[in-house]
Amino acid sequence: MACLVTGSSTGVGREIAARMFEQGLHVFVSGRDRLRCEKACEEILGSSTGGKGKVEPLPMDLSNFDSVREAAKQLEGKPLKYLFLNAGMVYKVKEAGPWMNADGYDLLFASNFLGHFLLCELLIPNLKLSTPSRIVVTASNAHWIGREDFLFRKGVSLEKANDFTRFQMYATSKLANILHAY
Ligand SMILES: NC(=O)c1ccc[n+]([C@@H]2O[C@H](COP(=O)([O-])OP(=O)(O)OC[C@H]3O[C@@H](n4cnc5c(N)ncnc54)[C@H](OP(=O)(O)O)[C@@H]3O)[C@@H](O)[C@H]2O)c1
Repeated sequence: MACLVTGSSTGVGREIAARMFEQGLHVFVSGRDRLRCEKACEEILGSSTGGKGKVEPLPMDLSNFDSVREAAKQLEGKPLKYLFLNAGMVYKVKEAGPWMNADGYDLLFASNFLGHFLLCELLIPNLKLSTPSRIVVTASNAHWIGREDFLFRKGVSLEKANDFTRFQMYATSKLANILHAY
């Protein structure tokens, strides 16, 4: 049985990946950087207490839709039991951008939500090969202050949406994650 955990090069995702490994799953460990994914795989193997699974890096940048398509292609024809849509980023206080991805969407919104939505759509056939299968989305209480008026506005990044704070952008992406789960 296989599972993919986005954002498992560190943080919450790496913990999920380690637990899945312990349960004997073939875990695809994902993040933007291949080396960080490989390091996480080594750490999961190194800290295991007898897990019988497998770990394998599957790097992708969720803010880059070509990268998401490429990663999904690598899983073509492979059954997937669990898909954890967990990766997430925040805009740091003094960060100076960039705020937009190559497709004209806010970078954070694309990373946290749009890339996940695309990945999920592309992997439905894989999930169907392993029914009953499950999709798990990591949300946040921050969604309470998410702004519905921003959802799906193309061409508007944080830079141009002057009425948005960095935290509201994050909160809006988390609101979108929850709506997606429903
Ligand atoms: N930590 C909290 O207090 C908290 C609270 C509520 C909800 N959450 C949610 O929990 C989830 C995990 O958070 P965390 O605290 O574990 O964060 P974290 O430690 O910063 O880890 C974030 C993970 O997401 C990956 N990532 C970031 N941007 C990406 C992108 N564009 N494409 C692919 N991967 C990307 C990172 O990988 P690379 O950097 O290697 O690319 C990393 O593996 C997020 O969805 C977050 O919103 C966290």
